[in-house]
Amino acid sequence: MSVVLSMLNLKGGVGKTVSCINIAAALAEHGKSVVIVDSDSQGNIATSLGLVPDELSPTLADLMLEAIDGDVSSRRIVECIHTSGNIDILPSNSLLAGIDYRLSTALSRETVLKSIIDKLRGSYDYIIIDCPPSLGLIVINALAASDFTMIPVEAHYLSLESLKVMLDTVEMVRLKINPKLKVAGVFLTMYQQRTNLCRAIRERIVESYGKNVKVFDESVPYSIKAAEQTLYGKSLIEMLPSNPVSEAYKRIAKELITCGRL
Ligand SMILES: Nc1ncnc2c1ncn2[C@@H]1O[C@H](COP(=O)(O)OP(=O)(O)O)[C@@H](O)[C@H]1O
Ligand SMILES: [Mg+2]
Repeated sequence: MSVVLSMLNLKGGVGKTVSCINIAAALAEHGKSVVIVDSDSQGNIATSLGLVPDELSPTLADLMLEAIDGDVSSRRIVECIHTSGNIDILPSNSLLAGIDYRLSTALSRETVLKSIIDKLRGSYDYIIIDCPPSLGLIVINALAASDFTMIPVEAHYLSLESLKVMLDTVEMVRLKINPKLKVAGVFLTMYQQRTNLCRAIRERIVESYGKNVKVFDESVPYSIKAAEQTLYGKSLIEMLPSNPVSEAYKRIAKELITCGRL
């Protein structure tokens, strides 16, 4: 049975996409079958894994439009899946930008993505959803389809208010739409060990939310190699397995598996 995990943050540039790719790669190294579903119209999952998003067709946008109007078969979903190394991806591109509007008038508008994801559940151990940086209907759809959500927080910028909005949104989706939804945890990205700021941000998060939400001990360090990943079209774990960023994602993935969070 699959586990569905979404990577959530309402802010862009915090490391959601890099985290999806490297946690997926770490899980694949453990012999797990993994698909990443890109729910962001920027199409960064495809770009980061060596594909050109706007050359891809069909994509998630086609599946969601078809699911709004009727049913989507498993065979149709498989037509959208690409493989990069040992990770499968269900990509998105700029066509997904119009979906929020179409969803707003659809029946079951919060569970259109879930109807697609549920059809993938038999085929993968892990389904990882990369979320867009917004709080629109696509994010609600991603949470409605998920068993767990993880929140990467950039270690240079503290917004306890935005963390609260995200945790409240998860709680609202759990109460109204998806009782199975749990927060797997919050973790820090682009962490610079030597700065007081990074340490202080982690402490403030633990102080404010640590009682109710797991804050991972492991933080993902800052490394320019992580930013270069898109140039090579592969996960950092595949490219530079001993890089501290790769090591951190491997430990986070292991912790997710061993503590039964996934
Ligand atoms: N650990 C890291 N160290 C340095 N740069 C990083 C790290 N993680 C991500 N980045 C870079 O930060 C930018 C934003 O990351 P990304 O994963 O695209 O964020 P999001 O998906 O939240 O918008 C990208 O240029 C990415 O390469
Ligand atoms: Mg992204």
